[in-house]
Amino acid sequence: MTARASALRPLIAAMPKGGYPLTAVEIERTHGVGNVRMLHLNESPLPPSPKAIAAIAAGAATVNRYPEAASATLAAALAARTGVQPDCMMFGVGSDELLHFCCAATLDAGDGGVLPEPSFPRYKVSTRLMGGVIQPAKLRADGANDPDALLAAIDDRTRLMFVCNPNNPSGGLLGAAELQHLIAGVPDRVLLVLDEAYWEFGMAAGGVDSLPLLRARTGPWVVLRTFSKAYALAGIRVGYALCSSPEVAGTLAKFKNTFSVTNLAYEAALAALEDQAHLTALVGGARAELARLDQGLRALGLSPLPTAANFISADIARPVAPVIEALKAEGILIRDWREPGYETFIRITAGTAEDTDAVLAALRTVLTRNETAG
Ligand SMILES: Cc1ncc(COP(=O)(O)O)c(C=O)c1O
Repeated sequence: MTARASALRPLIAAMPKGGYPLTAVEIERTHGVGNVRMLHLNESPLPPSPKAIAAIAAGAATVNRYPEAASATLAAALAARTGVQPDCMMFGVGSDELLHFCCAATLDAGDGGVLPEPSFPRYKVSTRLMGGVIQPAKLRADGANDPDALLAAIDDRTRLMFVCNPNNPSGGLLGAAELQHLIAGVPDRVLLVLDEAYWEFGMAAGGVDSLPLLRARTGPWVVLRTFSKAYALAGIRVGYALCSSPEVAGTLAKFKNTFSVTNLAYEAALAALEDQAHLTALVGGARAELARLDQGLRALGLSPLPTAANFISADIARPVAPVIEALKAEGILIRDWREPGYETFIRITAGTAEDTDAVLAALRTVLTRNETAG
């Protein structure tokens, strides 16, 4: 075997370097606008529970100490809510990290990862980082994951399947019967990962709790949830994995840096979890703004996809880059789908009522201007 010339692994070196999402500070600097409207990352436009803020403030004086490796208190609180025992649970620096661990735990080079497409880009990135083979399954026309397409994508190489419910960037949601059908069809040699980053919004939109359905499965499974979205704690970085067995949780935990999740994050998550009234208000607020966005986009002649998350997507039937740039110039950030076949799709996060007014007004101007220009 010839020695490798480069210190860097060729597989990794050949991968494109992902960029970082735009920040408000950058837009203020490059476009000279203030009050940037951040509608591109599916964050909460409003702060977390005051109890979470107080917990972070109270924890600040103790950061001379390393955090707990895993918060027994948060695990107990989640166990009480989900029925999943703490030894089947694992915390991560956002659910982002945990889905990467799912790839690391299952994929040797050449193994297959079935994933919805378009969906959360990290599934593909993490699969590639392991040298895994991407086995994509197109979404249904309504933007939900397609259970039959996902099942059809499984072959002998498959070790992992991601399901994103509700799906990002489309917002589509699978119902109980469809989920059940999907869960029943995945072989036991495949780790079934349900990414439920938008679960609380999905439940408010009529979704079902997947846990009782998953418990009927004999093969391994993981449900990923996060405090970043409905609990408005994106900046503190804490997500959790609910696993089918201590063995699955323990395997994921092998990839975790001992002190990765901070005590501030654990304390904030616990306080946020205990303030369900705040959660309900945030979810309700997002749903109200999505209804207004849906209506406003329809008034512009568009047909937004049905959404069960905290964002809404639509095909604007023209290249999105100039539209995104025009909005950026007004200090409004929205997201393109960036997926072959979906070059004309945009995604807008539910913001405040003022954000909704501003993004609809800006879109009206830019879409009309484009039309007039031919
Ligand atoms: C579908 C999906 N999964 C996972 C994540 C990661 O979220 P976090 O790492 O903040 O928990 C996101 C973030 O946007 C997402 O959209």
